[in-house]
Amino acid sequence: MLPHTLASLLFISTAYCSQPIGDKIADLLQPYSVAPPQFALRPELFQLHKDFVAVESISYKENGAGDFIANYLKGKGLNVEYLPTEDGRNNIHAYLDEKNTSVLLTSHIDTVPPFFKYSVQKIDGQDRIYGRGTADAKGSVVAQIVAFEELLNEGKIGKNDVSLLFVVGEEIGGDGMVAADKALVASSVTWDAVIFGEPTNNELIVGHKGLFYFRISVFGRACHSAYPELGVDANKVLIQILNGFETAQWPGSDLLGETTLNVGQIDAHNAGNVVSPYAAATVVLRVASTVEEVSDLVNEIVGKYKDQALKVEIKLTQSADPVHLDYDVEGFNTSSLAGATDIPNMKNTGFKRYLYGPGNVHNAHAADEYVTVESLYRSVDDYKKLVEHSLAY
Ligand SMILES: *[C@@H]1O[C@H](CO)[C@@H](O)[C@H](O)[C@H]1NC(C)=O
Ligand SMILES: *[C@@H]1O[C@H](CO)[C@@H](O)[C@H](O)[C@H]1NC(C)=O
Repeated sequence: MLPHTLASLLFISTAYCSQPIGDKIADLLQPYSVAPPQFALRPELFQLHKDFVAVESISYKENGAGDFIANYLKGKGLNVEYLPTEDGRNNIHAYLDEKNTSVLLTSHIDTVPPFFKYSVQKIDGQDRIYGRGTADAKGSVVAQIVAFEELLNEGKIGKNDVSLLFVVGEEIGGDGMVAADKALVASSVTWDAVIFGEPTNNELIVGHKGLFYFRISVFGRACHSAYPELGVDANKVLIQILNGFETAQWPGSDLLGETTLNVGQIDAHNAGNVVSPYAAATVVLRVASTVEEVSDLVNEIVGKYKDQALKVEIKLTQSADPVHLDYDVEGFNTSSLAGATDIPNMKNTGFKRYLYGPGNVHNAHAADEYVTVESLYRSVDDYKKLVEHSLAY
């Protein structure tokens, strides 16, 4: 999928660059009369969003964006500490007084490739802000910062109520959150509630699916295809097992829906007239129930056919149970996510966890990533609501 995606991304991002509208943003931001009305209502939000999106921060190269956010927060009087990954990429942790606060607002500063620049366009009657990271997750980052500032200025939070954590590496498996979590646990920092920011279409997420990702290899014995009784056909056994997978009733859940299966890779390189000695496949199950239930069913299916082969081997690549989140807040629509987030990388537990953000996950990694002006604007109010709800306990 990558080459095709990349090709279409390059094509479209070139198209964006050549559109004069991209260069007009500076003008749009100055005379607010021509900009979307929300720009004048929260100028700092939209300016910060524009400036932050301009700093390229594809995973592994986030330090410019980290410094940008760190300087911004220092300028607002916060204490900022860098919590680096092993390879020296900086997570940003910021707080006013004590590190221990009731609530943590957190999101990620890395983006997927390729970078393409900020522009505001009216499409289908919507004011949309295009650019890499506008939704995933720079929209969440700036909305969390502005929500924090507004609550502070309005006297609704005190010095030790809310802290901020912005991590690297979310798009490449979460090494940023893993490092930040380790450092925070080591200094005994904890919270009553953590509010994670990812594009959720302004909905509160009830949970997301887990993962059971493995490679299955079947070993047989080659022989002339005219005398199959002399060999052991690995292809035949793999075909039966994969058919078992495809026709199984995978256990789902009311909250997260169906467990889905993808056999993304099948390897069996043989001559047409040779009984196959080896066949393998890569299988990814998006788990809505539990990894235990799903792996039991995998073993049951494999168990039915494995004696027909010399050997069947399963190598686990990744396994994670679904994540269940808190959503006990009035005034929000709720939904579930099929994909994964950084949340399981935070091993520190014992607090409420909310997941909410501006922008739509369906276009977050796309060639035309955007967030609507309305979604970004509204997310500040919603983050404020979530913080105030969390502090009310
Ligand atoms: C933070 O709070 C927890 C729980 O109240 C406490 O155990 C820990 O020592 C505190 N950590 C710091 C750095 O103050
Ligand atoms: C919930 O979703 C409905 C239908 O899309 C929408 O009309 C309504 O405004 C949403 N409510 C909130 C609080 O987002």
